[in-house]
Amino acid sequence: MAGRLTDKIALVTGGASGIGRATVLRFAEEGAAVMAADRNPGGLEQTKGLAQKISPDIETVTVDVSKLDQVTHMVDTTVERFGRLDVLVNAAGVLILTPPLAEVDERLWDLMMSTNLKGLFFCCKAAIPAMLQNGGGSIVNIASMAGVQAYSQSLPYAVSKAGIIHLNSVAASQYTSQGIRLNCIAPGFVDTPQARGSTQSTEAIEKAARYHPLGRIGRPEEIANTILFLASDESSYISGSTFIVDGGSWSVASRL
Ligand SMILES: NC(=O)c1ccc[n+]([C@@H]2O[C@H](COP(=O)([O-])OP(=O)(O)OC[C@H]3O[C@@H](n4cnc5c(N)ncnc54)[C@H](O)[C@@H]3O)[C@@H](O)[C@H]2O)c1
Repeated sequence: MAGRLTDKIALVTGGASGIGRATVLRFAEEGAAVMAADRNPGGLEQTKGLAQKISPDIETVTVDVSKLDQVTHMVDTTVERFGRLDVLVNAAGVLILTPPLAEVDERLWDLMMSTNLKGLFFCCKAAIPAMLQNGGGSIVNIASMAGVQAYSQSLPYAVSKAGIIHLNSVAASQYTSQGIRLNCIAPGFVDTPQARGSTQSTEAIEKAARYHPLGRIGRPEEIANTILFLASDESSYISGSTFIVDGGSWSVASRL
């Protein structure tokens, strides 16, 4: 069923890797024009090369989402290139494992808060006026199961992701009546460079897979498919919601 995003203009942060890259490719397959944004220009070029095998309507912009002037430039560049903005996917994020609260380095707290939470706030802040100019749009925010459960391995990450879930609810209460739907996804363990970088071991990934009812962790494409649904008009009656996409692992963990 191709064409689920025909004529839509989408902006995807974190587009150089993992879930963001899978989303850029999925959106291209479904007919969207896509601006892939990231702080990693080399990764963006790779994404563009892959996406252009599917569609010519792919562009890239380098951005540090924690800097408001760069985020404003990212949105302006998208509107200048494609004419308007219909969909924003906030997938840029960083996870660094930390010791318990009393030993958390202030620098790491600031890094994860300013990237994951403040950066997502900046992206919404810059995109919403552009979306309102054309009667609305859809924003998909990528949180994490770490923002739902007590994820002990990185308190700053977990708190930033819990903040995203609440930001999503509050912003949906403010903008849904004006035609902008905001929804959130809380992925479980997904096989991306972030997941492999934070665990630093294939063994840890294999161990995690054993706790999943499906016998494996998630694939970025599986999160991208949920993002696609929420970005498209198929989810026209959904706003302010958070979707857990974890292969059923939460229900298993809560029974242990
Ligand atoms: N992989 C998982 O298990 C998992 C689980 C739950 C949630 N998530 C979330 O999904 C999103 C995507 O993560 P992923 O697993 O694909 O990781 P990833 O590391 O593959 O991709 C994250 C991307 O964000 C970019 N980024 C980081 N800081 C940035 C900044 N300041 N400005 C612009 N870009 C920046 C990175 O360059 C990278 O390309 C993140 O928000 C992550 O927290 C991932």
